[in-house]
Amino acid sequence: MAYLTQTQSGQSVLVLKEGTSRRRGKEAQKNNIMAAKIIAQAVRSSIGPKGMDKMLDSMGDVTITSDGATILKEMEVEHPAAKMMVEISKTQDDEVGDGTTSAVVVAGELLSKAEELLNNNLHPTVIVEGYRKAASKALETLEKIAIPAELMDKESLKQVAMTSMASKLVAENRQQLAELSVGAIMHVAQKVGEEYRVDLDDVMVEKKTGESVASTRLIKGLVLSKEITHSDMPKRVQRANIVLLNSAIEIKKTQFDAKINIQDPLQMEAFQREEEGMLRSMVEKISSAGANVVICQKGIDDMAQHFLAKKGILAVKQAKESDMAKLAKATGGKLVTALDNLIKDDLGHAELVEERKIGEDKTTFIEGCKNPHAVAILIRGGTQRILDEAERSIHDALCVVRDVVKEPKIVAGGGAPEEEVARLLRKYAETLPGKEQLAVIGFADAVEIVPMTLAENAGLDTIGILSELKVQHEKGKIWAGVNVQSGKVEDMKKLGVLEPLSVKTQILKSATEAATMILRIDDVIAGGKTKTPPMPPGGRGGMGGMPPEY
Ligand SMILES: Nc1ncnc2c1ncn2[C@@H]1O[C@H](COP(=O)(O)OP(=O)(O)OP(=O)(O)O)[C@@H](O)[C@H]1O
Ligand SMILES: [Mg+2]
Repeated sequence: MAYLTQTQSGQSVLVLKEGTSRRRGKEAQKNNIMAAKIIAQAVRSSIGPKGMDKMLDSMGDVTITSDGATILKEMEVEHPAAKMMVEISKTQDDEVGDGTTSAVVVAGELLSKAEELLNNNLHPTVIVEGYRKAASKALETLEKIAIPAELMDKESLKQVAMTSMASKLVAENRQQLAELSVGAIMHVAQKVGEEYRVDLDDVMVEKKTGESVASTRLIKGLVLSKEITHSDMPKRVQRANIVLLNSAIEIKKTQFDAKINIQDPLQMEAFQREEEGMLRSMVEKISSAGANVVICQKGIDDMAQHFLAKKGILAVKQAKESDMAKLAKATGGKLVTALDNLIKDDLGHAELVEERKIGEDKTTFIEGCKNPHAVAILIRGGTQRILDEAERSIHDALCVVRDVVKEPKIVAGGGAPEEEVARLLRKYAETLPGKEQLAVIGFADAVEIVPMTLAENAGLDTIGILSELKVQHEKGKIWAGVNVQSGKVEDMKKLGVLEPLSVKTQILKSATEAATMILRIDDVIAGGKTKTPPMPPGGRGGMGGMPPEY
């Protein structure tokens, strides 16, 4: 419906285009809050070690996961406020890599509490102000209670990695996978001044079906899911000098259809010889630069493969672009576009390049790279879906370990920090004037959703657990949390359930940001649906030959 407004003289003015819908004031707020709550509700049951997984079917492509960011990415959300919730999990994933489900659930709860406050006639700006104050107090509290971790303390890094995987399908193998993730990060971490820097891109992750997750391993080097192109080439080259080529070793085909009339067999032969000569000289350039390995991002002509094989050069073709960049970094080689300009200095170096059979597939390993910071994780697992979920879990583990290496501060999990934040916020609220006080209490109640959901997902008595938590925290036991295994309130630090401080602070930051943003909206103007796309040539008979509707 078009949106009309009237001038003083009573004339109607069309302001928005036809098909536009508009919601204002409380109706807009309620509607947005509802959409956000639905999203939070959808992922809530997957939080924690006892959380459930979700099966997502996108046109027959099935994903099984408990990863918040993945669940929401796969759900095709339409509502603008719901989309904002999906963005929170994405931000959380980009910033710290874990806590994507918690961030969405906390945001949903902040909005749910805000709804109650709105119903009690609190103005949205008062709620927003109260939430902001509460968030900054909460962050202060987290900083204060955080435990400083020793720089590169392997034991705490391992614990943190294990906690992040406790809630995943691969939990059974978390001990081994945690060690592997810590090993990988320690390998690529570089000391800059007093700090360590980690670039996750330096950790290559490859997946291969077969064996089981327990056979996942760390490789000090790189792994390419590619086989050596020609059977006569060596399968193993020591002291490899590697050309990283991002153009094809082929003769360029003409862009247009050209017809060459050959009248004489000799002419044909000359033509072929010409091509052969060109390929031969390309291979010659590679060999005279001193290379014994070629990794090519594009194709390699059969004839060129034969020439390379004769020279004892190992070649891999159609390598992934992202892998080429990693190879360049790891081997110290340059990406070469034209073989004409190839010089010795462009070559990368590794101690060993070798093809090995992993399960059904042949895989090329590049080990002992010039840059010792190159490392790969080769994930094994019975099915593709297990491999995918293992990859996501290892991603979370790598991220949390990186988080702690970057900012060496940790907190215990199991809802303990959230409960402590809630307790201190309630105390802080007492110092504030009436209405803001209500908003801060609302915020405190909202963060308690974390221990509550952990208990709920473990099938525990939530009211009993929450009151026990409150009692323990009142007694000064700041790390009292929900041990979902024993079903009791216990000291999570002693249990070794540790998490990076940055994951917890980011959860609060992004949840508060999204909730306050949604609360400040009092007008939703939605454009009409896009018109039906133009008909394909051949008229309107596309749908099973339906008659044209005129
Ligand atoms: N053994 C445990 N006992 C109690 N709570 C635990 C335990 N291990 C992990 N947790 C808690 O589980 C929560 C994390 O759950 P989960 O990993 O499912 O969600 P997330 O980290 O918010 O999202 P995602 O991992 O999907 O990005 C944290 O609050 C963490 O403290
Ligand atoms: Mg997690």
